[in-house]
Amino acid sequence: MSRSSFLLPEGLAAYYAEVAVRETPLFAELRRETAKMPQAAMQIAPEQGQLLAMLVQLLGARRCIEVGVFTGYSALAVASALPEDGELLACDVSAEWTAIGRRYWARAGVDHKIRLVLAPALGTLDAEIAAGKSGAYDFAFIDADKTAYREYFERCLALLRTGGLIAVDNTLWSGRVADPGVVDADTTALRAFNAFVASDQRVDLCLVPIADGLTLLRKR
Ligand SMILES: C[S@@+](CC[C@H](N)C(=O)[O-])C[C@H]1O[C@@H](n2cnc3c(N)ncnc32)[C@H](O)[C@@H]1O
Repeated sequence: MSRSSFLLPEGLAAYYAEVAVRETPLFAELRRETAKMPQAAMQIAPEQGQLLAMLVQLLGARRCIEVGVFTGYSALAVASALPEDGELLACDVSAEWTAIGRRYWARAGVDHKIRLVLAPALGTLDAEIAAGKSGAYDFAFIDADKTAYREYFERCLALLRTGGLIAVDNTLWSGRVADPGVVDADTTALRAFNAFVASDQRVDLCLVPIADGLTLLRKR
């Protein structure tokens, strides 16, 4: 298994993988298939999948949102943790990448819980708000284009119930957010997002240093 967090020194990362990572054969197969793709680094780490699943269970979540599906690993983790009548609204723009996920969701027997919408996520979330779904969701995972994180956050916050949770991926961005010399669009957007939520009193915040950084925001 490759080292999944830049935050752990190599020896500790190997130990962590040994004692902290649980991955069923199906999840591991999806990881292996995705590893052959040039975009493989976009996939979440297995321990993040575990954390997302645990959060969904702790929340007793029934309605979830995912912004950024790729080959479906995080959706597989979340949907597997949902009850039989739960639903994950999964937003992505790639039919090709999500087709891989669909195969695994079907094999896991969770495909009936996933409503995949192939369209720019902002439009999908705005349509949910327009349809009167504000306050109807329990959990959201944001992991798509970094420059739109702030807008995804606002939409998801509107769609969440009080006490609902938003998890935002890549908020430590391999450390680049802390290097003022790095000023590309993604890094700048993540830095601005982190600064904004740090003082946003609408949410409780915990930036968990797992994988590439996962910010948890609980709606007050
Ligand atoms: C980092 S990957 C998601 C990884 C995924 N969560 C996983 O567990 O493997 C980001 C995804 O966001 C999608 N994406 C990029 N821009 C988007 C947009 N405007 N609307 C919806 N999805 C978008 C990409 O197609 C890509 O699949």
